[in-house]
Amino acid sequence: MRLIYLTLLTAASLNAQAYCSPSAIATSLSATYIACATSPRIERLDRSQPIPTAGPVSHILASADGRLLYAALPAPLSRVAVIDTGTGKTIRTLPAGHTAVFLVLRENRLYVVNQFSNDVSVLDLQSGKEAARLKAIREPLGAALSHDGRTLLVINSVPAGRADAEYIAASVSVFDTQQLRPAGVIELPNGSSELRAIAVTPDGAYAAVTHLVARYYLPTTQLDRGWMETNALSIIDVRNRTLAGTVLLDAPDRGAANPWAVQFSPDARLLAVTHAGTHELSVIDFAGLLSKLQFQRTDRKPWDDMSFLAGLRLRWPLQGNGPRAMTLTSTAAVIGNYFSDTMEQVELLTGKSTVARRLSTAPPTVIRNGERIFNDGSLCFQGWQSCASCHTPDARVDGLNWDLMNDGLGNPKNVKSLLLAHRTPPAMSHGVRGSAELAVRAGIRYILFTERPEAEAMAIDEFLKALRPIPSPLLVNGSLSPSARRGKALFFDSKTACATCHPAGLYTDLKTYDVGTRSSTDPSGEFDTPTLVEIWRTGPYLHNGSAATMLDVFTLFNKQDKHGKTSHLTEAQLHDLVEFLMSL
Ligand code: HEC
Ligand code: HEC
Repeated sequence: MRLIYLTLLTAASLNAQAYCSPSAIATSLSATYIACATSPRIERLDRSQPIPTAGPVSHILASADGRLLYAALPAPLSRVAVIDTGTGKTIRTLPAGHTAVFLVLRENRLYVVNQFSNDVSVLDLQSGKEAARLKAIREPLGAALSHDGRTLLVINSVPAGRADAEYIAASVSVFDTQQLRPAGVIELPNGSSELRAIAVTPDGAYAAVTHLVARYYLPTTQLDRGWMETNALSIIDVRNRTLAGTVLLDAPDRGAANPWAVQFSPDARLLAVTHAGTHELSVIDFAGLLSKLQFQRTDRKPWDDMSFLAGLRLRWPLQGNGPRAMTLTSTAAVIGNYFSDTMEQVELLTGKSTVARRLSTAPPTVIRNGERIFNDGSLCFQGWQSCASCHTPDARVDGLNWDLMNDGLGNPKNVKSLLLAHRTPPAMSHGVRGSAELAVRAGIRYILFTERPEAEAMAIDEFLKALRPIPSPLLVNGSLSPSARRGKALFFDSKTACATCHPAGLYTDLKTYDVGTRSSTDPSGEFDTPTLVEIWRTGPYLHNGSAATMLDVFTLFNKQDKHGKTSHLTEAQLHDLVEFLMSL
């Protein structure tokens, strides 16, 4: 009976109507495989039967002989499925960290990048055991190895640290894979955020990283010439572990929002980047780019120069929407379009494009439409940015402060996560928008500088309302740790009074208070009480991102006990309180 039920379930979940949402492509000598981010299956480009998996797939790799596929199945306790490509059966399952998003294979080692445990699992394929965990900085999304395999570069997608500092940027972590230890950090230009993907040249000498360079220090009054957000590519000299240069993918009057997939051609002559926000492909003369970086005039930083790629790059429009996955031959790119659910083949030098495969045929739901619009930079004036450029594709935070005009000039605010935004009015730190609905419409008009039909704003609302919190990486088998349990008692203790303003459930009473966090630039000290749900993911803290860590909220910024009472707590008790908050 149970068996029959399981068979039916598998058949239903393999329904070709379910959106695949291509997230990665793997090629072997004989086949091209497509990972489905929103359906438990792996598709093949040649239209034969899909391969069923135990869950949606964030990334895939093929073994050198093409006989095995490695598929990352993200979850709080992620798994990597090892699949026999002949039979389509999972023959082995390996453990990984919280939300496995990327794999790198080298001989008998598999590196698994875990977004929310902020680390990389180093798996020994012979024993199936984890040899080490390499600690990244914050929400790593990708990795690449040097040619000799000794250096692992890991991209951190979000900056860590206070958002009111002079320099704030996400960076690339470097690891020594023999010693299995950190070997430094490569810093990127100020404002670098949302690092998305990394690729290395076939000879391992250079790596390319896609990301944004935010001009978070300017008032958000306009978009012209990348005033707010620019879209960039950083080139890393792998041997010397240094930044060779950062260049902008935008043109002076046309942004290239949300660069995503990046790949070198097998002969390393071409470097291709997809623009997931403007649905385009850039094809760059890599040798030309390198020599221009070497001989650039020193009076101008390349990431201030929107004409840097002029003459070095072809920019092709795509038919699909949301190009997030790509593989490259010397002459063509195969691209996976996340939202249109299509595979598209593009000739690199002519831009001639053909739709090679439709992965589902069902019309999109309102929620999925909302997600697409949220990620669509082509709706923005001149294509500079999308909602996802500050809120990330998942509608959370980029870790930066922005000086939005809704509450006056000169008082930057930390980006807010949009999880529960519709259930916790008013919106914005000062509560200047009565509801999230109003904030969504204001975002379209005053941040994307465009007019859109009401149906699109409603679709964004539905997408945001459908967001669900992700279980904290601090939970132990889904439950509070002993330390978090002690912290919970402190939180609900009438002495600390936390729960008077942050009652269980939404952890906000929806009111505004002055809790002593006003800085010299704030017009008032009254702030909307934020929800504390999923707060482990949304640092830095307080309205202006001045608290780099949760502990700072109560040590540096609550000296007078105006924000609940914490001065009576011992160091160990503060640690427990933080452990509880970071478990919500
Ligand atoms: C330039 C960066 C940026 C972009 C782009 C952006 N936002 Fe925001 N958003 C912010 C910041 C910063 C805040 C918090 C402001 C504050 O606290 O006063 C915010 C707050 C919000 C809020 C209120 C959340 C709450 O709970 O109070 C909503 C809703 C929102 N944004 C939706 C959107 C939508 C929809 C888009 C695209 C149309 C968008 N944002 C684009 C920076 C941005
Ligand atoms: C009088 C109401 C009130 C009390 C009591 C209170 N809070 Fe808050 N809390 C707020 C307000 C208002 C903010 C926003 C402050 C800001 O952004 O500057 C806030 C912000 C926070 C934040 C930062 C959230 C973020 O996303 O940046 C945390 C964490 C927090 N509170 C936890 C606590 C804890 C723990 C206690 C008990 C020690 C507590 N609060 C007591 C009203 C309160």
